[in-house]
Amino acid sequence: MNSTQLHRRDVMKAGALLAASAWGPVAIAKSTRDHSARIRDLIGRMTLPEKIGQMNQIAGGRQKALNSRLDEGMMNRVRRGEMGSFLHVAGAEPLRKLQKVAVEESRLGIPLLFAMDVIHGYRTILPVPLALAASWDPAMMEQAAALAAEEARAAGLHWTFTPMVDVARDARWGRVVEGAGEDAYLGSRMAEAQVRGIEGGDPSAPGRMLSCTKHFVGYGAVAGGRDYDSADLTDRALHEVYLPPFHAAIRAGTGSFMTAFNDVAGVPMTAHEDLVRGQLRGRWGYQGLIVSDWNAIRELMNHGVVATPAEAAALALRAGVDMDMASGTYIEHLAAAVAADATLLPLVDEAVGRILAVKARLGLFDDPYGFGDARRAAAPLARTKAREMATRSIVLLRNEGAVLPLKPGTKVALIGALADDASSAIGSWRARGRPEDAVTLRTALPQASYDPGTDPAAAARIAGAADVVLLAIGEDFDLSGEARSRSDITLPGKQQALVDAIRATGKPIVAILMNGRPLALEKALAGIPAVLETWFLGIESGPAIAEILTGKTSPAGRLPMGMPRVTGQLPMTYAHVPSGRPANPDLAIDSARYRDVDVGPLFPFGHGLSYSRFDYGALAIEQRGDAAVVSVAVTNAGERSAEEVVQLYVRDPVASVARPVRELRGFHRLSLRAGEQRTLRFTLTHAQLALWKAGKWVIEPGVFEVMVGSSSADIRARGRFAIAEGGEGTAPAAAIATVVSVS
Ligand code: NOJ
Repeated sequence: MNSTQLHRRDVMKAGALLAASAWGPVAIAKSTRDHSARIRDLIGRMTLPEKIGQMNQIAGGRQKALNSRLDEGMMNRVRRGEMGSFLHVAGAEPLRKLQKVAVEESRLGIPLLFAMDVIHGYRTILPVPLALAASWDPAMMEQAAALAAEEARAAGLHWTFTPMVDVARDARWGRVVEGAGEDAYLGSRMAEAQVRGIEGGDPSAPGRMLSCTKHFVGYGAVAGGRDYDSADLTDRALHEVYLPPFHAAIRAGTGSFMTAFNDVAGVPMTAHEDLVRGQLRGRWGYQGLIVSDWNAIRELMNHGVVATPAEAAALALRAGVDMDMASGTYIEHLAAAVAADATLLPLVDEAVGRILAVKARLGLFDDPYGFGDARRAAAPLARTKAREMATRSIVLLRNEGAVLPLKPGTKVALIGALADDASSAIGSWRARGRPEDAVTLRTALPQASYDPGTDPAAAARIAGAADVVLLAIGEDFDLSGEARSRSDITLPGKQQALVDAIRATGKPIVAILMNGRPLALEKALAGIPAVLETWFLGIESGPAIAEILTGKTSPAGRLPMGMPRVTGQLPMTYAHVPSGRPANPDLAIDSARYRDVDVGPLFPFGHGLSYSRFDYGALAIEQRGDAAVVSVAVTNAGERSAEEVVQLYVRDPVASVARPVRELRGFHRLSLRAGEQRTLRFTLTHAQLALWKAGKWVIEPGVFEVMVGSSSADIRARGRFAIAEGGEGTAPAAAIATVVSVS
């Protein structure tokens, strides 16, 4: 028995049900240990209805009317111990009162867990997650999550349903806005950054709360990008692409998971015993809390895998789902299921143990009122941080003829309704954010003549009188997010006509894209010399975009997801396998491509330009034990300070199965003054090159290629190294972080 197993057994014995992982102990908050005896004692004294009550999470309000259901009827249910948790509630005072009822008036006095979707800010709304991922700066992502947690905690919340770590390669899926894009490695870094920001290793500590890593698993792979649809995944894709960020989140200490709505190859994730209880709990050793998604336990009947709600409850519990979000199936039907099948009872006890362990870990048994802080809740918005994060999330996609930055004194016209849409600036999930807090681009550029573009002819007149036209186009906030899949991701509404009218003026145009997903804009952007991707950047949208336009800051964001030319290219990824007839620009050659559109994306994964230029030296590769250390010198060859995202990709050119043409395995956002040079060292372990085969991470001996560059399609230096002896990895290859040092 190794030390990890020993540790895990001890923890289980102690009743602290929240603790070990296959790679070593996850930090256990002190309070959990202290309360393990209490948890055992409580479980011993609880009636079956009280146990099932703990497993019940109910909405205390609607998303737009928080706390609206906390009436006397609801209070009586709390008194009877019928709930373990509320979602869609907030507010230091109301939650304090609600908690008081649970603690003082229910038989066992067990505190409630208060949850909400705090996705990219609570009061201070920051860039949407896809935009934050475009910073390629996990430290910034961590700060963003920490700020959101701090504000949410002050409002009395214990638990946020963040991060969403679903890898997604089909931008038709509306929920790409909530994730970190198409790549498992970038997604893993962003997943762990968010968990660290929210929990900081101890969710009971000041400013912290409990994270919930979602949606386990395969939700980003739904057929055709249709939300809630089926995901028909191969075992290899599941392990190499979709599972790694979840693994990374566990390692970072995430305290809870949410199962996904979708099925994977016919088995709904809410009932997927092999992936939830088998993979997550068993093979990965995860002992935290698992909650279903909204109403998903009842919806098992719609999937057609059970006939009755009691069967649905039993199936979800067997799969490993501890808490029922919103469907009421556990509270109404689990007792009947247990009466019919006594083998469910130990599973109920385990689930309750995990729920109580989370409450203990949050410190709620020590101080059930420790989370609300009315004074902190009244603090001003964190505008400086919000602006910095927004600026760092912007991606310069095209800049022909150096249209940007704008020269001082340029007469600009600002066209497009999105440029003045404060509601879209704050994105789809907005917690307690308010549109009136958002500074739009129009407000940030008072010197520009503005036209919303509703009448293209009028807009063209305004444009015609300017030197440069800033054209804000994209989609509004309500077109991306949950249940917002679209079959055609070109410009919605009449925007194409507006683009055509402005283009006809012959003025230089800067397209300012505002959207929650990569759009298919080959046609819309034809002939437009400058393009900025600005997503939905939060309350400081306008000032952040203005900083980039005027050149106060050089852009350095990178696409976390490639942009297709046309919708029909989806799903799409830079990390595709090569095929026997790789895509060829020459139509006379039969190859893996569409005949009616050019090969490849309009803008590739990792793409983003700067106002400066960077030179890359040759790669030096040094073998050190089971690692290859890849060094490269990068120089700022331009005239101004700027940042560059240096990206490292690998390829296994000959393996027992076809391998992706390239896969990200390291990156670093580097800041350099004009003329400055730095050397980056990436330490790549052999386990990061493993492939998933027959249930194992296999490291095949042979030659591997390394590519370093400025995007997945702009490789500046290449090298190779060999692995002499094969072996086996223990963790998903993409979940393992590459150590990068800079000298
Ligand atoms: C459904 C969504 O899929 C999930 O992401 C969210 O956390 C819950 N609703 C709660 O609002």
